[in-house]
Amino acid sequence: MNNNQEKMDKIVSLCKRRGFVFPSSEIYEGFAAIYDFGPYGVELANNIKNLWWKSMTQWRDDVVGLDSAIFMSPKIWEASGHVKGFSDPLTECKKCHSRLRLDSLLEEHDIFADEKMSEEEINKIFSDNKDKIKCPNCGSKDFTEGKNFNLLVKSNLGNFTGDFTKEPTYLRGETCQGIYVNYKNVLDSARVKIPFGIAQIGKAFRNEITARQFIFRTREFEQMEMQYFVKPEDSAKYYNEWKEIRYQFYLDLGIKPENLKWHQHENLVFYAKEAYDIEYNFPFGFKELEGVHARGDYDLTQHSEHSGQDLSYLDPYTNEKYMPNVVETSAGVGRTFLAVLCDAYQEENIGEDSRVVLKLNPKLAPIKIAVFPLLKNKPELVKKAKEVFDSLKINWRCEFDDNGNIGKRYRRQDEIGTPYCLTIDFDSLENNDVTLRHRDTMKQERISLDKLMEYLKNNLS
Ligand code: GAP
Repeated sequence: MNNNQEKMDKIVSLCKRRGFVFPSSEIYEGFAAIYDFGPYGVELANNIKNLWWKSMTQWRDDVVGLDSAIFMSPKIWEASGHVKGFSDPLTECKKCHSRLRLDSLLEEHDIFADEKMSEEEINKIFSDNKDKIKCPNCGSKDFTEGKNFNLLVKSNLGNFTGDFTKEPTYLRGETCQGIYVNYKNVLDSARVKIPFGIAQIGKAFRNEITARQFIFRTREFEQMEMQYFVKPEDSAKYYNEWKEIRYQFYLDLGIKPENLKWHQHENLVFYAKEAYDIEYNFPFGFKELEGVHARGDYDLTQHSEHSGQDLSYLDPYTNEKYMPNVVETSAGVGRTFLAVLCDAYQEENIGEDSRVVLKLNPKLAPIKIAVFPLLKNKPELVKKAKEVFDSLKINWRCEFDDNGNIGKRYRRQDEIGTPYCLTIDFDSLENNDVTLRHRDTMKQERISLDKLMEYLKNNLS
C-alpha cells in the first residue's frame, strides 16, 4: 500500500471513528456513493458554509442570497441543456458486467481523457489503447463501446400515473439553475443593479457512474454557487477578479499554497466559454475543488427562449438593453471538507508517544474549546469547570470532558482539531485561573478567568 492510500485510509477511518462522516444506511449494508455527516462533521461543514456565505454575501455589497427549491419545472432542465447534454461516458465489462466511467478507467491506466470529450473522441482513445485496459474488478479486457450516460436523477414527484419515466421530474443537477430562473425576481425585488451576484448553498444530485474516493464524488452533495451578472464587455474583467477571490478563499481557510493549483479546461462543457478549476492535492492526486466558469449569456438566453419571458436587462442609466453575461463560481461542500481534513491531518511523534492532530484553522474547528476538571471525583473542580463551560458555550461550540487522564483527553481533542483545552485544577479554585493548552504547540500557560474571554475573542473570532 502506498503512503497516499494509507493516509486516505487513515482519514476515512478517523472520520468514522470520531463522528465526522458515516457511510449512509450502514445498518442496511450501506448505500453506494452517499454519506452522512456526524456530530463533528456537521459542525465542520457548517463552518465551511458559514465562511463561504459571509465572504460571498455579508462582506460584499454586490451579492445577495437565495434558497431555491430542489425540485423545479422539468422544462428548466430541457432549457438548460441537461436533459440532452449532461452525461459521462459509460462502458460495461462484458465478463463481469461492471459498469465503469470510461474517462476514469482510462485515467487509471495513465491515459488522459477529459470527462468533457465527445463520445467519438473518447471511444477513439479507448480503442487505440484496448490492449492496455483491464477491468479493475475481474481483469478482463473485453468492454462495450463507450456510451454517454445522462447524470440527471429522475423522480415521480407530482406524477401519479405509475410510469414516471415518460414525464420525469428531476432532482436538481446543479444549484445555479434555481438562480437563473429567479434572476428576474431578484432584480425586481432586491434593488440590485448590474454588476451583481446571487449566491446559493444547497443540495444537488447526480447519477455518478463510479463514485469512489470517499466523499470526493457522491450522488447527493452540496454546492456553494454564485452567479455574477455582468455587462457582456465586462465579462473578462470580472472573470479574472472572481478567479483571484475564489483562490484566496482556500488560502484563507488555511490550505497550504503548495497544495492548490489552477487547471484550465481545454474541452468545455456545453454552457462554458472559459473554465478553470481550482484543484487540491488530495492523497489521490490533484483534483477539482471548485470551478470558475465564464458562462456567457447561454443560460439567460436559453431560459428566455424556452419560457417566453424576456430576461434581458435594461440599464437604468443608459437605457441600453442587453442579455447579461454570467461569471459562475461553483464549489462543493464535501470536497472542501475533504481538502481541509487532508491538509490538516498530521501524525506527530512526542518522545515515546505519538499523536494524530488535525491542525485545522480555528475558524473551521468543530469544537473551539474543551473544558476539563482535573479530577472527575472532586465536585468542587467539576462545579467550577461547568461554570467555565457554561460561560463559554454561548459564544463558541465547546465540549466538556471529565473522562480519563488529562493526556488522553488532550489526544481526543487533538484528533478532532480543537484549538484550545482548558483545565480546572485546585489552583484554579484559589487563583480564579485555568491552564490553557494550545493544540499545535502543546504549550500550556496559566490564564486568569478575567482575561480568558477577551483572549478567546481575539484568537477565535
Ligand atoms: N454549476 C456548475 C457546476 O455544477 P461542476 O464542475 O459540475 O459545475 C461544481 O460542479 C462543483 O461541485 C465541483 O467543483 C465540486 O466541488 C462539486 N461537485 C460536482 N459533482 C460532485 C459530486 N458528484 N460529488 C461531490 N461534489 C461534486
